[in-house]
Amino acid sequence: MSLYGKRVVLTGASSGIGQALVTEFLKEGCVVLGVSRTMEQTGTEHEGLYRMNCDVSDPAQVDRLFHRAQELLGGIDVFVANAGFAHYEFLGKPDWEHIRHIHDTNTFSPIYSAMKLKHDRGNEPWHMVMISSAAGQLSMPGYALYCATKAAMRGFANAWQAELAPGQFLTTVYPIGTRTAFFRRAGSPEPWPLQNPEHVARQVIRGIIGRKRSVYPSSLFRVLRLFPPLMTLYSRIGEMHFRRTQGKRRGEHG
Ligand SMILES: NC(=O)c1ccc[n+]([C@@H]2O[C@H](COP(=O)([O-])OP(=O)(O)OC[C@H]3O[C@@H](n4cnc5c(N)ncnc54)[C@H](OP(=O)(O)O)[C@@H]3O)[C@@H](O)[C@H]2O)c1
Repeated sequence: MSLYGKRVVLTGASSGIGQALVTEFLKEGCVVLGVSRTMEQTGTEHEGLYRMNCDVSDPAQVDRLFHRAQELLGGIDVFVANAGFAHYEFLGKPDWEHIRHIHDTNTFSPIYSAMKLKHDRGNEPWHMVMISSAAGQLSMPGYALYCATKAAMRGFANAWQAELAPGQFLTTVYPIGTRTAFFRRAGSPEPWPLQNPEHVARQVIRGIIGRKRSVYPSSLFRVLRLFPPLMTLYSRIGEMHFRRTQGKRRGEHG
């Protein structure tokens, strides 16, 4: 399958994996509507790239995004739900708003967008891509809420596959730590190992072309997940590090 001429909507396009994906989609000859909260203020001009500021945690703005895609592109062939974030934190006092906020962006928005794509396009062909995370399958201490959002995305994607008509595809991507602004924004040290966003973006493109259900950009993680004791060991090391560095801050979180 060729991506040439495909109409792509990509969230979180202003930075990191999303920015690398913009480059890859343009190389493939796609026309891209890239969105983020600051998209209109960032990046370089390209004739195949439209920009829109959109906070995907707000359903009304997601509705406007679909409307704008119809106006500008005449429809959507590929929708990439990439926008997402984490907090590296010690969860103390229960805070419903804090829990909801991260789920709005990382979980509800991709699920709502997938359902909207299916609803709007009926039985026509399309391809939905959800950028989950290795953290959706592997426990990462300090990222409890983030892990919950990415595991929920995985659960939805695996089950929803059965509801797709012929010609409709859903690819879920499980990157490991990637060199982007993600960890700085999360307030966390960078984990080991790290991959480049350009590598992740190329693997996503291959996954779309190959109509893969799951994409594991890191072959190390692809193998690691087959050995649960190694996954547990990785998490235990993370736990020790988290206790050492964050435990002393418990008092601040109630
Ligand atoms: N980096 C990693 O180690 C890693 C590993 C696994 C999975 N991931 C996932 O990969 C995706 C991309 O992350 P990244 O590493 O590229 O991080 P990043 O460099 O921080 O990029 C995040 C992007 O999401 C956008 N964004 C955040 N909240 C948004 C909102 N409410 N509405 C619209 N756009 C929003 C940001 O732009 P604005 O601030 O302009 O809105 C930015 O373009 C995320 O879903 C992340 O969970 C990352």
